[in-house]
Amino acid sequence: MTLISRRDLVIGAVGTPALLTVAGRAAGLGGEQLFTLGVASGEPSSDGMVLWTRLAPKPMQGDGGMPARAVPVRWEIHADAGLKRLVKAGQGIADPSLGHSVHVEVAGLEPGRPYWYRFVANGEASPVGRTRTAPAPGAAVDRLRFCYGSCQKYESGNYAAWRHAVADDPDLILFLGDYIYEGNPKPGSVRMHRNPEPTDLAGYRVRYATYRLDPLLQAAHAIAPWAVTWDDHEVQNNYAGALDEDNGDVAAFLKRRAAAYQTYFEFMPLRRTARPTGSSMHLYRTLDWGGLAQFQIIDDRQYRSGRSCQPPELLRDHKRSLDTTYDCADRTDPARSILGMPQETWLMDRLGRSRAGWNVLAQQTLMASYPQLDKKDPAAPPSRHSSDTWEGYAACRERVQRRWHDARTPNPLVISGDIHAFAATEHHLPDGTRVAAEFVGGSITSENHNALLKPAARLAGFAFAENEVRGYGRIDLTAKRAEVTFRGLANSADVNSSARDIARFSVEAGRSDIIADIPA
Ligand SMILES: [Fe+2]
Repeated sequence: MTLISRRDLVIGAVGTPALLTVAGRAAGLGGEQLFTLGVASGEPSSDGMVLWTRLAPKPMQGDGGMPARAVPVRWEIHADAGLKRLVKAGQGIADPSLGHSVHVEVAGLEPGRPYWYRFVANGEASPVGRTRTAPAPGAAVDRLRFCYGSCQKYESGNYAAWRHAVADDPDLILFLGDYIYEGNPKPGSVRMHRNPEPTDLAGYRVRYATYRLDPLLQAAHAIAPWAVTWDDHEVQNNYAGALDEDNGDVAAFLKRRAAAYQTYFEFMPLRRTARPTGSSMHLYRTLDWGGLAQFQIIDDRQYRSGRSCQPPELLRDHKRSLDTTYDCADRTDPARSILGMPQETWLMDRLGRSRAGWNVLAQQTLMASYPQLDKKDPAAPPSRHSSDTWEGYAACRERVQRRWHDARTPNPLVISGDIHAFAATEHHLPDGTRVAAEFVGGSITSENHNALLKPAARLAGFAFAENEVRGYGRIDLTAKRAEVTFRGLANSADVNSSARDIARFSVEAGRSDIIADIPA
């Protein structure tokens, strides 16, 4: 790994947009600032990455305040933070059909090193971002440091977590879902959503812009490449494939899903292979970090089978799907999959082929078994099951667990979001064979309403669970060991909140048991 000085970091993170005097301003664009939403990079490969921005002089408008025509945007990638050594440059197009977002796929760079980039449009330069290439295929890598987060409800807090993640100087950031929340503004929140619940393109654009205007979130995008996947709130709470949470009209929901997916693509540093077609978007993929690690980044929302254990009379009375249910036969029905069969087949293939030192399943919902307490009888053994996580698709979960074992996938780790809690637990086959460790990295801001989690998690044999502290996860991988740190905030409402290690764990290569090192 190339070492980067603290000074470079500061420049990379907070470089201010310098106004350039480039001749020929684009017609129809005034002197308003175009790069209000910052810059980002993502999808690092050994020779490149995606560079992202979106032109939006009026980000609280559905069209961003841009004219309805394409605008050329120059991009530059440099070998140094001071932008003295230009490596590559070119022209991208900010097209109105994609909300004037720009996704540049850079190739031909050197492996395993940092780069700095910016955009120039209409005579204005964007902030400077730092990114990096992944190491060469199969290369030995001393160490990979990545941070991961999920569930950043704007109304629930500020993004101090991102300030601390930036200070950790990660090589890579993974985001595991709930980048936005779709609900109506709620008076009395720490800070409020600025538009009603979105259902169309203009509405989702304003909602994403509300989040992306946050300077700490922008700084996190500007410090390292991201690899993202989504969960439910990027579209709607607890949706399952083509079913919305109210079991409403499928065609109407797919129309809404198409608007949400397109906006997600517009705002994320994704490759063009992810560009949505109608209500479909191909998000699952692998990301390789030399010979050290492969991330299998999956999508357990778009293709999942219908929810388990939803008796018709309950649906009729309740008018929406049930989050947790008592057990029933279809929860373990092998015909059901949380991934959909094409993605599941793809994942099995990857788990069989990968020879990377660590295989990190980067995904949205709690994967481990987690029976929940019954609110009506909290003293009884846990008897309720989530219909929204892998628990509701138990046969599919077991197929992945068996695959890790049977294919001898080297050192599987699972990282997860969704439950607004930190958690660490091990995965076992029914015969007790331990096959993987899972680390749920807390939530950036979103609160946990499930007061039953901690005792239930203890009963379910979790190594650790903490649902009252917000924050993020950090993992340092070497050939020998994964060191996992849960970083918790003193107060996620406070933009200046301190953070501390609330728990540390390690997993040794060749084993999958969690060794805890929990500070007092
Ligand atoms: Fe969430």
